[in-house]
Amino acid sequence: MRRRRLLCSLLLVAAAGMGTAAAPPRSAAADAATPLDQVVPAPASVRPGKGAYTVSDRTLIRVPGASAEVKRVAEYLAGLLRPATGFALPVTTKEGKDGIVLRLGGRDAKGLGSEGYRLRSAGRSVTISATRPAGLFHGVQTLRQLLPAAVERNTAQPGPWQVAGGTIADSPRYGYRAAMVDVSRHFFGVDKLKRYIDQLALYKINTLHLHLSDDQGWRIAIASRPELASHGGSTQVGGGSGGYYTKDDYREIIRYAASRYLTVVPEIDMPGHTNAALSSYAELNCDGKAPPLYTGTDVGFSSLCVPKKETYDFIDDVIREVAAMTPGRYLHIGGDEAHSTSHEDYVTFMDKVQPVVAKYGKTAIGWHQLTGAHPAKGAVAQYWGYDATGADERQQVVDAAKNGTRLILSPADRSYLDMKYDKNSPLGLAWAGYVSVQRSYDWDPGSYLSGAPADSVMGVEAPIWSETLSTSAHIEYMAFPRLPGVAELGWSPAAGHDWGRYKARLAAQGPRWDALGIGYYRSPEVPWPAR
Ligand code: ACM
Repeated sequence: MRRRRLLCSLLLVAAAGMGTAAAPPRSAAADAATPLDQVVPAPASVRPGKGAYTVSDRTLIRVPGASAEVKRVAEYLAGLLRPATGFALPVTTKEGKDGIVLRLGGRDAKGLGSEGYRLRSAGRSVTISATRPAGLFHGVQTLRQLLPAAVERNTAQPGPWQVAGGTIADSPRYGYRAAMVDVSRHFFGVDKLKRYIDQLALYKINTLHLHLSDDQGWRIAIASRPELASHGGSTQVGGGSGGYYTKDDYREIIRYAASRYLTVVPEIDMPGHTNAALSSYAELNCDGKAPPLYTGTDVGFSSLCVPKKETYDFIDDVIREVAAMTPGRYLHIGGDEAHSTSHEDYVTFMDKVQPVVAKYGKTAIGWHQLTGAHPAKGAVAQYWGYDATGADERQQVVDAAKNGTRLILSPADRSYLDMKYDKNSPLGLAWAGYVSVQRSYDWDPGSYLSGAPADSVMGVEAPIWSETLSTSAHIEYMAFPRLPGVAELGWSPAAGHDWGRYKARLAAQGPRWDALGIGYYRSPEVPWPAR
């Protein structure tokens, strides 16, 4: 049996036109296949099996009886694998027991929820089963990571392309696993967001939170308030020309994110962080005077005028238009660092704005300062405190959670990807301290806020603020290698959490990032393979 397989894989390698490249002995190749548990995020359950499946020039991607959506997932997989393997990998709806099979429904899909999947790998096939296409998509990301890192390259590579045998049954710990991009301090165009979305999908992140407005820039076109984009979007930190998303741009971001099974959560930050809006419309200011645009990095100096009717006409226009363009359930209303708004005004403001979000069919998310006002029924608070956050402030969040407010956890000294790794980091800020790779991974969302009911935690988020970041290379240097750790906290069972084992799995991602052209920080905490 072993001999026949050896011969078989030699023939396949020869058939694939790999010329004189010597095929490794079958057993060595199988040993070299990535073990099923060596992916990020760690799968919920793994049962190693015998043998390995080899992707070859005869491999079909089978989607028996599939919907158009499942076919799209299959084409996405084929598109990932074709350049490096050089194989045709046709997608077919024909039934068959060989090849890569994506199957919706069936016994194997039971009990895995809307995002879970089961992956079975054996000599003749790899089958991914799921209840929903999102599960198939996440299973595809696992399959991708089980193949050699060279599969990410966009030119033909020698292979062999083996998937270790066995079964993975996997589903997420949390339904909300987000990354945020601050497109306000520096503007990032549609293509840059698409690049990041692809990177997020590899780690099963399912939500893209866009921080669309701040003191330094308004980044989304609002037809009823055109000056917001044309004037408020015309600069950024440091004084560059900024930019904004047209409605078509925004729809394209949403469409692309959805094709990678991410939902977009738009944030319009208020009542503070609003200088770009205040500069665009004088009536939003209590003194009726528009301030100049701002290109510095201070916070806490701006506020919409809480007592004025014009403020709420403005908010109605903005929330109506943003909600109409956004298919997702959530709309983020910010609410952080409103240092120029009195507490009384802040509470009044939030009492008036949350019903506007509900009126347009969305559920409000606010930064956790919202818990100091009256969070609406169903509202979500995003905790961004850190070790130095006062006990009273934490307690306010915990009390709100006990009263039914759900939480997204993004502690600034754990999951803020713009914090410097250490004192030598050339980019980033350090107001919450240095955030090493271990520190960003080594916490438990389920018990992080002592006293908050475990089921109040909806999930985790890794925000990246862009005061010091203006290119994709900057984002990637700060996000990698920390982002996958936060993704794992959101996806994997707490029981398997272990820095020692995680850092070995993380290290194995390095060659994949090299193949993808991601310029990551080679932190000395992680045992990267030599390049
Ligand atoms: C924040 O970092 N101001 C939410």
